[in-house]
Amino acid sequence: MEKITDNSYSAGTPQRILLTGGAGFIGSHTAVTLLERGYDVVLLDNFSNSSRDVPGRIERITGKPCPCEEADLLDVVATSAVFEKYAEAGGFSAVIHFAGFKAVGESVEKPVEYYGNNLTGTIHLIEAMRTHDVKRLIFSSSATVYRQDNPVPYSEDFPLGATNPYGWTKVMIERILTDTAAADPEWSVALLRYFNPIGAHESGLIGESPQGIPNNLLPYVAKVAVGELPEVRIFGDDYDTPDGTGVRDYIHVMDLAEGHLLAMEYCGEGMTGAFAWNLGTGVGTSVMEIIAAYGRACGKELPYSVQPRRAGDLASVYASTELAERELGFKAKRGIDEMCRDSWRWAQAKV
Ligand code: WQD
Repeated sequence: MEKITDNSYSAGTPQRILLTGGAGFIGSHTAVTLLERGYDVVLLDNFSNSSRDVPGRIERITGKPCPCEEADLLDVVATSAVFEKYAEAGGFSAVIHFAGFKAVGESVEKPVEYYGNNLTGTIHLIEAMRTHDVKRLIFSSSATVYRQDNPVPYSEDFPLGATNPYGWTKVMIERILTDTAAADPEWSVALLRYFNPIGAHESGLIGESPQGIPNNLLPYVAKVAVGELPEVRIFGDDYDTPDGTGVRDYIHVMDLAEGHLLAMEYCGEGMTGAFAWNLGTGVGTSVMEIIAAYGRACGKELPYSVQPRRAGDLASVYASTELAERELGFKAKRGIDEMCRDSWRWAQAKV
């Protein structure tokens, strides 16, 4: 792997940020936001759940270079080689760690693969960062780290505990990163607990592309809207919610990207230690409201049927946004209709 030598890289030139899993849904949108704010970006991805044409699409959106290193964090040599390659040109100012398996149902069937991939990959990343003196890490965590018996809205100091191996990998990685920061005061770590990221960049060039039949609501609704699936399955309409269907905190992926930028800059201002923040809107939206909003976005009534509840689902989950607002100045700007309009534009473009 050739070395990048850019002698112009000194104080005052753009900081370079490494995004592991950067060709994925949240990673690609965060790359766009960072590039548009003047950062340099390098993606690291094994393309196990992302498309090879995403870096080029990011370049089309931003007009800026978006190099992507094909590597797997399970490969210690390949991971270290990425850091080596950019070391001479100034290295990385921070790492945003998106790479990991993320399907709840699959994690129940394949727990060892999930623990092996998500935990080992993270440990290899920490080791490579330590070797190359990169000690600012923003981690893609999740609201699934909160115990299900917590009251809503979820607050960052609530007890943690998962109900599936995927969620446990997030809890365990938060612990690994918290202990890493406690052992070495030069580390600053942001644990970003996403609620339900949906939507797509307004260009329609990047978005969510789950493989196979989607588990999550929005990509499933999108496939119904484009005619690839016959109807939306509503998993239960007898919950203790205003219309009986499940309520969640949907956040536009571009708002989520903004949250990563703010957290990364907060950690870069001499802050040390590990900090957890919710990234949500604080607003709960039901399945029926999503179906209605998507119908407005695509201009057609979407067919649906009520099915039995899905095991493990809660009635309502939404975020307390107070801490992220107060400490990061983060507040989601985009509403449900914009999320559905942007999702629909991407869904049509893919067909
Ligand atoms: C939302 C609501 C369902 C599908 C996910 C996972 C995980 C996390 C994001 C990262 C619920 C209902 C769903 C469908 C439906 N990501 N639903 N029909 O369950 O909040 O959890 O959050 O960590 O992917 O934890 O998201 O989109 O699966 O479900 O009625 O076909 O839609 O019952 O009320 P969820 P979801």
